[in-house]
Amino acid sequence: MPKAVRITETGGPEVLRWEEVEVGAPGAGQALVRHTAVGVNFIDTYHRSGLYPVPLPSGIGSEAAGVVEAVGPGVTVVRPSDRVVYAGGPRGAYAESRLVPAEVLLPIPAGIDDRTAAAVMLKGMTAQYLIRRTYPVKTGETVLFHAAAGGVGLIACQWLKALGATVIGTVGSDEKAAIARAHGCDHVIVSTREDIAARVKELTGGAGVPVVYDSVGKDTFLNSLDCLRPLGLMVSFGNSSGKVTPFDLTILSQKGSLFLTRPTLATYTATRADLEATANDVFNVLRSGAVKVEVRHVYPLADAQQVHRDLEGRRTVGSVVMTP
Ligand SMILES: NC(=O)c1ccc[n+]([C@@H]2O[C@H](COP(=O)([O-])OP(=O)(O)OC[C@H]3O[C@@H](n4cnc5c(N)ncnc54)[C@H](OP(=O)(O)O)[C@@H]3O)[C@@H](O)[C@H]2O)c1
Repeated sequence: MPKAVRITETGGPEVLRWEEVEVGAPGAGQALVRHTAVGVNFIDTYHRSGLYPVPLPSGIGSEAAGVVEAVGPGVTVVRPSDRVVYAGGPRGAYAESRLVPAEVLLPIPAGIDDRTAAAVMLKGMTAQYLIRRTYPVKTGETVLFHAAAGGVGLIACQWLKALGATVIGTVGSDEKAAIARAHGCDHVIVSTREDIAARVKELTGGAGVPVVYDSVGKDTFLNSLDCLRPLGLMVSFGNSSGKVTPFDLTILSQKGSLFLTRPTLATYTATRADLEATANDVFNVLRSGAVKVEVRHVYPLADAQQVHRDLEGRRTVGSVVMTP
C-alpha cells in the first residue's frame, strides 16, 4: 500500500503521521497520480496548526508533480504516462500516490523537470497573480516585497526585476540578504534589526512605494502601511508570523487613503482558463531564463515533521521539495 502524511488532530509538527493509505481506482473526473516530487508551502503549516481549520482526519499538502497512472471516466485533459503538476485541489499532496481531480492537473512542458515543477507551480503562480494582476507592476516603479528569500519571494523578486522594477526586499538574516540580492533585490532590509518603514522612506526619498506585498502578516502589517505612498496598495497575502490582528479601518484614511486587499491564489485560478494562463506565464518566465529556480532543500517525504520545523523556524531559503 502507498504511504502518505496525514493529520488526525491539529498541533505542532509532531501531529504529521506517515502511514499506509488506501488509494483505489480513479472515479469519474479523477486521475491516479504517482508523485515524483512534492512541493512544500507555508499554507501546509496553517492546515496542520489549525490556523486555517480543515475537517479532520485529513491529508496535507497542495502541490506535487508526478506521472498519471490511470484516469477515470470523462477525463480528457491528461492521459496515462503524462508528466503532470498541480497546485490546488483537495489537500493530500504529501503522498506517494493519490487520486486528484483531473481539472487541476497541468502537463509539465518538456525541458522542465519534475522537481522544478513541484518547486515552482504554487509559488510561481502566486508571484504571477500578485505582480501582474493584483497590482500590475510597471517598469521604473519601486516596490516592497517581504520574505524576499522565501519560496514565493525568490521567484517574485527575480520576476519583478525582469519587469523593470526597483525591488526592495525584506529578509531575516544577513545570509538571506545576500541571496535576495542575487535574485533581483536592489535593496535588502534585514527585518530583525532594521526599521522597515524608515528604510523604505529613505530609499524612496520620503515618497513611499505604490505597493507592498506582505506575507509576514501580524509582525509587519502596520509597519507596511507606513511604507506606502498616498493611494498606495497594501497586498496582505500571508500569515507567516501569525494572522493580522483586527484594526480600525480609519487607519487607511489617516495614512493616505490607502487601498487594501487580502488575495488568494484559489480565486485567481478558479477557472480552467485562468489556471492555464497563469501556469503558462510561469512556464514562459522559466523558459526565458528571467526566473531561475534552484531547489536547495530536498527532504524525504517521510521527514515532513522536520520540514515543517525548518520552514517555521525560518531556516529555509527558496522552495522546499520532498521526494517519495
Ligand atoms: N495568498 C496566497 O495566494 C498565497 C499563496 C502562496 C503563499 N502565500 C503566503 O506567502 C508566504 C510565503 O510562502 P512560502 O511557502 O514561500 O514560505 P517562505 O517564504 O519560504 O517561508 C516563510 C518566510 O517568512 C519569513 N518570516 C517572517 N517572520 C516569520 C515568522 N515569525 N515565522 C516564520 N517565518 C517568518 C521567513 O523569512 P525571513 O527569515 O527571511 O524573514 C520565512 O522563511 C506565506 O505567508 C504563505 O502563506 C500566500
